[in-house]
Amino acid sequence: MSPEHRVVFTPSGIESAAPEGSTVLDAARTAGVDIDSVCGGRGLCGRCQVAPGNGQFAKWGLTSSDEALSSPGPTELDYRGRRPLEAGHRLSCQAAVLGDVVIDVPPQSQVHSPVVRKAVDLGEITVDPVVTLHYLELTTAELGDEISDAERLVGALADDWDLSDVEVPASALPALSSAIAEGNGAVTAVVHTRRQYDGPSEDGEVVERSVLTVRPGYSDAEFGVAVDVGSTTVAGYLLDLATGEVAATAGRMNPQIRFGEDLMSRVSYAMLNPGGTAELTAAVRSAIDKVIGELCDAAGIDRADVCDLVVVGNPIMHHLVLGIDPTPLGAAPFTLAVRDGVWANAADIDVELPGASLYMGPCIAGHVGADAAAAMLAEGPHRSSRPQLLVDVGTNAEIVLGDGQKVWAASSPTGPAFEGAQISCGQRATAGAIEGVRIDPSTLEPRFKVIGCDLWSDDPGFYDALGSLEVSGLCGSGIIEVIAEMFLVGIIDHRGVIGGELADRCPRIIADGRTFSYVLQIQPVPLLVTQNDVRAVQLAKAALRAGIDLLLEHAGIAEVADVRLAGAFGAHISPVHAMVLGLVPDGPVEGVKGVGNASGAGAARMLVSGSQRAETERAAREVVKIETATEARFQELFVAAMSLPHETAPTPHLAEAVDLPSRSTADSETAGPKRRRPVRRQHASQEQR
Ligand code: FES
Repeated sequence: MSPEHRVVFTPSGIESAAPEGSTVLDAARTAGVDIDSVCGGRGLCGRCQVAPGNGQFAKWGLTSSDEALSSPGPTELDYRGRRPLEAGHRLSCQAAVLGDVVIDVPPQSQVHSPVVRKAVDLGEITVDPVVTLHYLELTTAELGDEISDAERLVGALADDWDLSDVEVPASALPALSSAIAEGNGAVTAVVHTRRQYDGPSEDGEVVERSVLTVRPGYSDAEFGVAVDVGSTTVAGYLLDLATGEVAATAGRMNPQIRFGEDLMSRVSYAMLNPGGTAELTAAVRSAIDKVIGELCDAAGIDRADVCDLVVVGNPIMHHLVLGIDPTPLGAAPFTLAVRDGVWANAADIDVELPGASLYMGPCIAGHVGADAAAAMLAEGPHRSSRPQLLVDVGTNAEIVLGDGQKVWAASSPTGPAFEGAQISCGQRATAGAIEGVRIDPSTLEPRFKVIGCDLWSDDPGFYDALGSLEVSGLCGSGIIEVIAEMFLVGIIDHRGVIGGELADRCPRIIADGRTFSYVLQIQPVPLLVTQNDVRAVQLAKAALRAGIDLLLEHAGIAEVADVRLAGAFGAHISPVHAMVLGLVPDGPVEGVKGVGNASGAGAARMLVSGSQRAETERAAREVVKIETATEARFQELFVAAMSLPHETAPTPHLAEAVDLPSRSTADSETAGPKRRRPVRRQHASQEQR
């Protein structure tokens, strides 16, 4: 067995015991230190760079020297990635541990917490949680009594609360006797009730009733947590189950990102590495647990006050949370291990919620998950009397379409471009990321808005207002907007080609080998939109749009006047820019709206209401599933959707809202970029900020 060395990471102070020869990135993973990576440890992205310490570190009782890490090898020496390797920095995915060492993880290499910017909206629902509290004063046990604590509890629940057939499972027993002793016979039983709602009673029929835990004395703290596990973000909501009010929200990056940016790379990791599923499961469970801790801290409550947990996620996240091997979901026929909702205890997924139940929302199909089912519950394409299109934009877009009678669903492999990956200046939606862009049609000068600052870049005092915030890249909504704006002002044509002839009159358009780039920012961090970036966005949007068009064809619907863009990204996207890009089909512009984290809202609904769970399960079972991977038509739709806004679909509604560049015959037929006629009227850049 190879010797182990101590690796201390700063600023966290977390320590790892690393086998000799393992990489610093591996040591960080083992210790749960999040170091950014886009390339998955291939030495390409430079996001994993760290600064090894040198000298004596009395605080940790170790001496760190140059010999503690392997010398830079060819990958590191030849590294030419977009994020330059700073002096004194090493690529943590390449540097091997050879001795005790202190490693500083600089802020730009840390995976930041995502910004959870919108509380959930539960809409009009009745609060009928599956967990209820029942205060009891139990009779004192006498010598010679033949009755157990559990029997006294069950008897009191029947007598005082008319709750019959209550089970006291083994998991509730440890708390029972101590609560009775501590409360001197006075206890609060936390009771979980599962109902079926397919009978005549609106309140449903009780199927199962059990005690989750018993608290000493009187207690009325009744909270629940709803969690939406995305491939990038884990978002949590703490709700008061008595009132349905949101008490706190929290979010963090899904630590599985270190195993791969997209879902398929995580499935590959599970497939290729023995114990890979267990590693992925442990990572996501620990993130859920941390989110719960943050929620409780934010609301000033104890974890013991949380009685119920609802988790939703795409099928792969759903399976990994449950510890199920996700590899069958990586290839046809995409078989789910379980489709209906799963009822269990929160402790079953290793979160520290003693005495809380767990409900995993139902999946729709092997490629459309519980997150889509939850979003459906929140937005209601299955309840709507008119066509409604619901799109959750993520690395794997989930699309649900209802026509008032039937519901269709599909997923489309958009990839991580809309989340900032695969884009040269892309980044996640964290403070400092550009979220909105406008380009002046006559000067081609940009202005932008960043997360964490209320001013636009051309507002007086913008740079003072930024303070220490660095404008560091573009997040998803910024990427959509900059490319849509570039199209509107004629910098790129309908095929997505950046026209070099404008370089003569605009210094922001520069040659980049045989293609051109648009310079969005020069200082302090150069931000360029390259031809490759435009291509990556075109590919992502074409995949999404082809999925939407496929569903519309199946449903026989020509136009949808109610389009809802869900997800953190969807909440901040400008409808006009989404339509300019052709992300969604043409329709009334006012009919397109961002609805925030609809999956989180759906999970919260399921948390506060048992009948909402039943509605979700019913609706999920009735959805018609469309498989984009095996539909020949998908490819044709994809090709047509590569153009901006679209190769063949007319855009009369969009044309009423903005002046679209005309498409000349020559432009359509030749490969070279052509100059567009000037924009005639007000366009999106003059819209409200
Ligand atoms: S360079 Fe990408 S992870 Fe190290």
